[in-house]
Amino acid sequence: QNEKDSQFIVSNWAKDHYHQLLEHNEEGQSVGWSYLRQRGLNQTTIATFELGYSLDQWDDLLKAAEKAGYERKYLEKTGLVVVREDDNGQDTGRRYDRFRGRVMFPIHNVSGRVIGFGARTLKPHDKTAKYLNSPESEIYHKSDVLYGLYQARQAVRSEEQCYLVEGYLDVLSLHQGGVKNVVSTSGTSLTDGQIRLVKRYTDNVTVLYDGDAAGIRASLRGIDMLLEGGLNVRVVLFPDGDDPDSYIRKVGDQRFKDYLETASQDFIQFKTDLVSREAAHDPVKKAEAIREVLQSIAKVPDPIKRQVFLQQTSQTFGIDEQVIISEYNKLARQPA
Ligand code: CTP
Ligand code: MN
Ligand code: MN
Ligand code: MN
Ligand code: MN
Repeated sequence: QNEKDSQFIVSNWAKDHYHQLLEHNEEGQSVGWSYLRQRGLNQTTIATFELGYSLDQWDDLLKAAEKAGYERKYLEKTGLVVVREDDNGQDTGRRYDRFRGRVMFPIHNVSGRVIGFGARTLKPHDKTAKYLNSPESEIYHKSDVLYGLYQARQAVRSEEQCYLVEGYLDVLSLHQGGVKNVVSTSGTSLTDGQIRLVKRYTDNVTVLYDGDAAGIRASLRGIDMLLEGGLNVRVVLFPDGDDPDSYIRKVGDQRFKDYLETASQDFIQFKTDLVSREAAHDPVKKAEAIREVLQSIAKVPDPIKRQVFLQQTSQTFGIDEQVIISEYNKLARQPA
């Protein structure tokens, strides 16, 4: 039995421990369960995603783990237990649980083994970070993980489509509402590792990001990476202030699914509309906007798709296609 196995085993044990607390402990019931119920989640979803609750104590997990015979070393290596250091970075010998008084979201790899946790506080989050996550470890490499992929993978294959959302609750609410082909980047910007992971299951990705203007601008880079990966990318925007979770709760499952169909736009078309709107009638800005779109088109590996996108760009901006193409050729020759 090697180091990694021991980390898998203790993570799996911790997942069971947190789940037991949610189901059978008084605090777990009155605090954890009632929170999840208030967020609209049901027993099936809680079981499918193996959700749990960590008690609001300094060392509940540590004590229970030692009682069950687990070595501290692996609790520390997986970050479940934190080593308290002094100001000079020296080990003080003190230990405490990383996750306390939080709803626990186990993070699974594609074979279903628990490799880490996300954890949401139930306190007002000006007091503490809304989410805490496991640190990197030998078994948890954040940049190679998509939350929910283990539960989504069959649906992603059969629907030939993967919905990409920002948060844990977005995955849970959509899955419960019948949109099972959904995964989350968990708040970080997309990585190459995550893109390679999706590509094992489908070439079609639809990005469902939170409906705030800052978020949309910031997400454009990540979406360019999806294009570079050769994926077909669509985008769905939500009303300002809504995320996929709040929106499905607001409109209900059926209207949400209808919305995914009607509001979904090809990414290049979406970006073209966005930047052309921002540029309005200012010719300088318009030229800049066109170049921005052409940059994205240059990422598309398929020459036929590129051709179609160039035609669209010409139409949207009302610029002669030959001009667009010659500009594109100039730009595509430069390194990005
Ligand atoms: N996130 C994080 N740390 C934070 C805030 C956010 O890791 N301090 C990650 C989480 O994975 C979170 C995602 O970013 O799910 C999206 O953040 P946000 O939209 O703020 O949270 P929601 O998922 O919408 O959570 P909730 O609905 O519970 O507020
Ligand atoms: Mn159970
Ligand atoms: Mn957000
Ligand atoms: Mn939310
Ligand atoms: Mn959100």
